[in-house]
Amino acid sequence: MDNTSFHIPVLKADSVQQLITDENGIYIDATLGYGGHTREILDSTSKKARIYGIDKDIDAIEFNTNELSDEKRFTLRHGCFSSLHEYAKTWNIYGAVNGILFDLGVSSVHLDDGDRGFSFTKDAPLDMRFNRLEGKTVSDYLNKLSEKEIERILRVYGQEKFSKRIARNIIKYREKNRITNTLELVDIINKSVLVNDKHKHNATRSFQALRIFINKELDVLKDVLEKSFDVLAPKGRLVLITYHSLEERVIKDFLIYTDQYLSAPRKMPIKKDFMEKMFNLIKKIKPSDEEIEINPRSRSAKINVLEKQS
Ligand SMILES: C[S@@+](CC[C@H](N)C(=O)[O-])C[C@H]1O[C@@H](n2cnc3c(N)ncnc32)[C@H](O)[C@@H]1O
Repeated sequence: MDNTSFHIPVLKADSVQQLITDENGIYIDATLGYGGHTREILDSTSKKARIYGIDKDIDAIEFNTNELSDEKRFTLRHGCFSSLHEYAKTWNIYGAVNGILFDLGVSSVHLDDGDRGFSFTKDAPLDMRFNRLEGKTVSDYLNKLSEKEIERILRVYGQEKFSKRIARNIIKYREKNRITNTLELVDIINKSVLVNDKHKHNATRSFQALRIFINKELDVLKDVLEKSFDVLAPKGRLVLITYHSLEERVIKDFLIYTDQYLSAPRKMPIKKDFMEKMFNLIKKIKPSDEEIEINPRSRSAKINVLEKQS
């Protein structure tokens, strides 16, 4: 199957334009996926440039191993971007990187793939791991966690109004059956949600919540923002494409936490233990109406451009 034929990279031109400040530079695509942004980075840089790609998903890595095998400027790594500082050391580029791109979350290829369990419209094993070589699946968690914990996950990561009813019905279902498939969960959710949203499938929020939870998406994002600082060269950039308010919140909180003038109440003495300012938010970009029309997945996307404070 040609996976890329389904995939239109989100905000490709804008994000890569913000990323590249030196055409001979060193760049990392921390969420390589099916290589849409990386192709654009390769096309926008010189022969001297070096590009490094990371992805948690072994399918994406295998695809790019073939696709980019002739590209001498490109190096590939299977793993989590929260280990980016370690990879940068082994690549000998620690402190020398001009820009790091993060196109967060799930790819359209994941959603289209009937086996991965990311989509509530396809009957599949309830998995949702980006890295299917390690860790537990959504099914493993849903069959084990307490009602209280399931409720918390759906409320915190999905902002689901009916989290209590869904959690209670999951526990009830579990008394007789194991929950193993996406459509079993969709059925439980449909029976629990009292008011249907005209614009969203009833399962949208719960699927988002469970995906964020099992892949620890917000924790690794928080972690990598801090770790990226030393990986970057002076004035190096982080370009982050986000898709929902929870990712936006992590970035905002990080900027506040690392800027004593934003953190400290006005006119109060600044405490010594505030972290040093790391980045300036230099630009925020939203998709144009035209882009949303061509690529509906970009509807909720935003680019945050952070520049290393030197
Ligand atoms: C939105 S897609 C990226 C699509 C890519 N920009 C393209 O044009 O094909 C996000 C990708 O990031 C990967 N991913 C998500 N979290 C990750 C993490 N913590 N570390 C490494 N890769 C991650 C997913 O497996 C997925 O392939």
